[in-house]
Formats: sequence, C-alpha cells, structure tokens
Amino acid sequence: NSIVLQLDTFKSEVKEESYQLNISRNGIFIKANSLNGLFYGVQSLLQLIETPQNGKSYPFQIPFCEIIDSPTFSYRGMHLDTGRRFYSVDFIKKYLDIMAMHKLNTFHWHLTEDQGWRLEIKKYPKLTTIGAQRKQTSYDGKPSKGYYSQEDVKEILTYAKSRYITVIPEIEMPGHAVAALAAYPELSCTGGPFEVETNWGVFKDVFCAGNEDTFHFLEGVLDEVIDLFPSEYIHIGGDEVPKDRWKKCAKCQLRIQQENLKDEAELQSYFIQRIQKYLNKKGRKIIGWDEILEGGLAPNATVMSWRGEEGGIASAKLGHNVIMAPDTKLYFNYFQGDPNYEPHTIGKQLKLSTVYNYNPIPEALSKDEQKFIIGAQACLWTERIPTPKETEYMLLPRLSALSEVLWTNPNKKDLNNFMSRLQVQMKRYQKLNYNNANSVYDVFANNKLLANKSGYLVKLTTEMPNDSLHYTLDGSIPNQNSKKYNQPILIHSNTTLKAISYKNGKQHKRVFTKKYYIHKAFLKNVEVVNNYMKGYEAKHSGLTDGLTGSTSYGDGKWQGFLKDDFVGVLDLGKKTQITKVACNFLRFPELYLFAPKWVKLYISTDGMTYKEIDSQYFTTTTNPLAKEIVNYTYHGKSMYTRYLKIVAKNIGTNPSWHKTAGNQSRLFVDEVIVE
Ligand code: ACM
Ligand code: ZN
Repeated sequence: NSIVLQLDTFKSEVKEESYQLNISRNGIFIKANSLNGLFYGVQSLLQLIETPQNGKSYPFQIPFCEIIDSPTFSYRGMHLDTGRRFYSVDFIKKYLDIMAMHKLNTFHWHLTEDQGWRLEIKKYPKLTTIGAQRKQTSYDGKPSKGYYSQEDVKEILTYAKSRYITVIPEIEMPGHAVAALAAYPELSCTGGPFEVETNWGVFKDVFCAGNEDTFHFLEGVLDEVIDLFPSEYIHIGGDEVPKDRWKKCAKCQLRIQQENLKDEAELQSYFIQRIQKYLNKKGRKIIGWDEILEGGLAPNATVMSWRGEEGGIASAKLGHNVIMAPDTKLYFNYFQGDPNYEPHTIGKQLKLSTVYNYNPIPEALSKDEQKFIIGAQACLWTERIPTPKETEYMLLPRLSALSEVLWTNPNKKDLNNFMSRLQVQMKRYQKLNYNNANSVYDVFANNKLLANKSGYLVKLTTEMPNDSLHYTLDGSIPNQNSKKYNQPILIHSNTTLKAISYKNGKQHKRVFTKKYYIHKAFLKNVEVVNNYMKGYEAKHSGLTDGLTGSTSYGDGKWQGFLKDDFVGVLDLGKKTQITKVACNFLRFPELYLFAPKWVKLYISTDGMTYKEIDSQYFTTTTNPLAKEIVNYTYHGKSMYTRYLKIVAKNIGTNPSWHKTAGNQSRLFVDEVIVE
C-alpha cells in the first residue's frame, strides 16, 4: 500500500525528464533519473485518479499499468501577457498549476508593455509608480494598475520551481515600451511627454537607440532582472519596432553613421546585439521574437518564431536555437469555436484540433537543422481577455493539445484518441474549478460549391465526435426531433441553416446558424476598380459567394479598402429583372473600420452609360467600441438591368475623436446580394 518514488533507478537510456510509472498488485512505483521526471510521473498518476470534488475523500480505483514516458521537446512553454492585463500573484500560481498538470516546463512571463510595466525595479521606481498604471482601457473610463514587487516575484519563482517550471522574464525593447517612456521620457527620441497607453496597437515611440542613457538604463533594469530570475535565458522582445522616430532622430542617425550601419533595421540589430553582449557577459543568453533576424541576427541568440514558421526556419538554417510559436498554430488569444458565441472573436480562429495537429519541426529543415528546434510555446496575449476567468477559457483545453504536441512523438499522435481522452480531462478541469471552453462540441459547416454552381453541399462537423446532429432549414431552432444529419445537405436557395449537436445524451447549448444567399448575382463577377488590401481580398469566394462576412474581420469573407472607395461593377450576364440590391459593411473603429459616407447605386444595360437609381447616407459612428455589420439595402419597383454599379464612399480618414485621427480609414464590404 505504498507509492514509491525512486531516483536514479531508471535504467534505460532516457532523457532527463523521462519517467516510468508502474502500478500493480505490488504497489505504485515511479522511477526517474531526475526530480523533474519523478514530478511528471506523479502528474500522470494524478491523471489516473478521479479528482475528488472540493477535497472530499472517497474510495477510488487506479488501473494497473506501466507507462514509460519521455518528452519530445526540451522547451515546453506557455506565455502570459501581464502587460496588457495585470493578474494577481494567486492567479499566476493557478496558471503555473495548470501548466504543471500538463507537464510544461517554461513560463514565459511577459512583464512590460506599452500599456503597463509590471516589474518592480528598485533603481528606477518611476517604472512602477508611473508605468504600472493607466487611466483607462479601451475607452472604459476605469483606471487600472498593478505590478509585481520583487518579493512577489520571489514567491512566484519559488512556486514555479517546486513545479519544475523555469520562469523566463520578458523585458521588451526597443519597442512596446511606452509605459517605460511615460516614466522616463528622456529615453525616447522626442523627449515626450507620454502617457501609459490606454489603447491596443503598435506605437511609434520606442527607446532611442542613439542615446547612451537608454543602454545605461536597460542595463540597470537587467541587473535587477538577473538578480531575481535564475533562468539561463532572458527574453528581450524585439518585435514590432516602427522605425519612424529613429529616422528623424539626430542621435539615432549619428549612431548609424558612427557604427557604419546601413539603415534603421541595422540599428535595431545593433541595439539587440549590444544588449545581448551585456547579458552574455553576465552569463545569460537572450531570446527574441523573430524580428531580431532583421538587420542581422545576434550570435547565440535564440529565436522565438511567431510570424509563422519562416523566422524559425531561417534561424535554424543559420544554426540558432529556435522556439516555435507561430501565431496561426499557437496563439491562444485567437478564438476556438463558433465565432457567433466565442467571447473574444477579434482576429483569427485557432481550433483545438489545429493545435493538436501542429508539429514544431518544419519539413523544410534537414535532419541536422531540425536539432535547432528546441521546442514550442503557446502565447496568450490579453488585450481582448479582460478577466482571469476568460484567460482560463482561452487556455483550456488547448493547453492539453499543446502538451501532447510537446510530449508525443508526431507519428503516434491520434486526434480521435485524444478527443476521447479529453472528455475525462475536461471533467477534471471542472472539478478543479478551471474554466475550460466547450467549443469542441460546436457545430461547424464545410461549404462545398456544387459542380454546376447552383448552390452548396454543406457538411456539418464537430471537433469532438458527436452522437448526433440535428438541423432545420426554416430558421426554427432545432431539437432532438428535428431532422437528423446523416449526409451533407444540399442548399439551392436562400436558406437559414441551424444545427445542434448531442454528446452523451446531452445537447450542446450553442446553436449553429448560417445563412446562405443563393441570389441573382450568385457567383457573378464583380469588377473592383480600386486595389483592395492585402489579406482582405475575399478572394476565396469573392463578393457574391452567398456567404456573408461576420463580425470577425479576419474571416476571409471581407474585401477591404484602405482610404479608397469601393467601386464594384457587377455583370449579371444578361438582362435580369431585379427589385433589391444589398451589401454589408463592417464597422469596427478600433481597427479603423468605418461604414461608408454614402452608397450610390447605378444600373446600365450596356455597361457604358449608367443611371443612378439610389443614394443613401450613413452617419459616422462616435462610439469607439462599436463592432457591427452595417447594411445597405435598395428595395424598389421591379426593373430590368444587366449591369449594376455600387459605389461606397470611404470616409477617408479616421474621425477627430479617434485614437489615430486623420489616419487612413478602412472600408470593408461583403456580399453584394441581388434579388
Ligand atoms: C507578438 O505577437 N508581437 C510577438
Ligand atoms: Zn533616437
């Protein structure tokens, strides 16, 4: 009746963090060659035990088994942005608990940002007296503040250590530093003054690279960071550094001259290399985001590849260690389920299965180069994640998929098997009072255009294999008596599809809804006069694919115009009777998206002479937090036309109340519907 932990008894040739777990009539034995390995063995044992609710004890069974387990990667990381949101010490501990349970070993603690400096530095007290508070957040009118004292940090480090987690602090430079510049404006190119940022974005004011005081200051900060954090690596950021100020700064330009640098990209490289040298001298190594490749990579730097895998591939080819954190695979701030229900739908989608299927080793690398991929990490940027509860929601269950990416040999991964085990794991989350998402039960539609282009064949799926799906085509809310989904659904006409999923006798709360518009201009070509924005082409299907863009601006449906108007000419192919023309615009001032000033509609039978038949004016919103679809509809008496021209006037520049007043504004349009 004992649990035996045995050190230095694991005979086979294994990595440091490996373990063996034996459960039999003879007892429970965990063997490893390191305390880390024993710790992971205990985590697996806990995973085999049904977690008691509220600490109550009760009899339980553990299956007899033998597990021999080794991580695939030595760097297994999770990041948290505490610059945009301040989290309590207790929450950080909970975060570390969740990481430990998933056998991760590195916490990337993002401590400094434009919107807040969170680390007490005794030599520079204004970093926290000024830099750790902001007047408000995204126009909410509520001040917010918080920082970690050096005592807090020590407490967290002790907590992490006892969970075999290394904490890597990130001190951002030369960009994402407005909070520091608000405290010490003399370290900027312009001298300020600055306020700790209250909006999200990338800001032009960065540390001055020509001023010796900048380096003196950062060295002073890093001295205290080194004293506090024992990690081999210090993360120094390096991402998203606009060069606007450096281009106009006499000191920065003088530095470029004196150091024989080619341009501002090389000045950034100079900056990073100088800091690296300082840290190397103190026995530490740097990690930087993949921008540190630009202008020349500092020797020995480890690169964290976030803008896809390209930076990581290039770095590995140069013989640098790489941590993969590509946003499309591992940014947990992207939403995980049906965008109609996900609380934080800004940006892109990242499903659980996408995380699970990710392999950090890119095919583009040779066997020798692959060695430089030391692991992977997921990031959790918190701009749009206001509370700790929601932070947990974004983390779970995707962290479970990340854990398997990092522990399981890619050849042995099996999504279905994972999904079946995940159900047990999610029960465990609930008992531990972890707020996990249930988005794996959400219904998704895969829309395949029919060969004769008359409509769609719609396949419904859930990430978690379901027991059954039920749907309606008349707009009513489905229940278990509605038609059961057995095969893909044919859609030939205007249809509202609604669907629900069942698992283990329970109906998932979220009702899937999708409208299909099979209208008179369905799949007809729209000639667009002005250039649309890269990334917002709506090119997968165009403006007449019968599917409308959602409030998730990056859903691939919207066609975007920067400053320019939308001028679209639609050829219906032949003279056609019409009564209605409609299109949508996405309004989202935070991302510079506004409804048009006006929309005008023209018709033509020859495609040369056009007659205006409608014009409608729109008011420009004054609500910075608006996020909505603005509809234009012309509804008139029946008429005949072959060509239609729609002109939507871009407001041109962001309005005077906007955080970037006067900058070019964006007009996003989708689905020109003709009936
Ligand atoms: C990043 O997401 N800017 C590293
Ligand atoms: Zn400067």
